[in-house]
Amino acid sequence: MAIKPIEFPYDTSAVTERLFKEHMSLYRGYCEKFNEITARLGEDPKLRPEANKTYSRYRGLKRGESFSMGGALLHELYFQNMVNSPEQPGALFNTLTKKYYGGFGNWAVDFAACAKSARGWCVTVMEQRSGTVRNILMDSHDEGLIIGAYPILVADVYEHAYFMDYGANAAAYLGRFIESVKWSAVDARLSRIKT
Ligand SMILES: [Fe+2]
Repeated sequence: MAIKPIEFPYDTSAVTERLFKEHMSLYRGYCEKFNEITARLGEDPKLRPEANKTYSRYRGLKRGESFSMGGALLHELYFQNMVNSPEQPGALFNTLTKKYYGGFGNWAVDFAACAKSARGWCVTVMEQRSGTVRNILMDSHDEGLIIGAYPILVADVYEHAYFMDYGANAAAYLGRFIESVKWSAVDARLSRIKT
């Protein structure tokens, strides 16, 4: 089934409207490619008989399927957890960071280090096997994710997310990102999972 891109309004103090709009076009591109791949997977009867792990059109489509859907979903989570008017972290997030990091400040230090080390995404997740909150890094839309981990807070740290506004100063971008987190959205995600 095809996915329809969400029209996010410009509502963040972390980046300019110009950058945001360019970023939205990248996001729409992932949705479009996912829909194109989904259609192609249903069209050609030769795809599956020719499947091969070294090279095959089926393999290419399946790799693209995970990559494009990951790109679409991660961007949606990212756009949804940013806001223009400052918010304070909620009680539930504070409780969890205190439990697993010794406090919000320690979590923030680790999140910054994780973002600095990641080539694509920095994500705070609830990891279900260990039952812990942790920051994970993803080097691309389909690399680094822990299976079953529930995303709580997502930061896009690809250069395209900040270079137009901040140049190579990734730390400045990340500082502004943390200041513009929509903590009410983070709390809403947390309230949907059993902690
Ligand atoms: Fe992005």
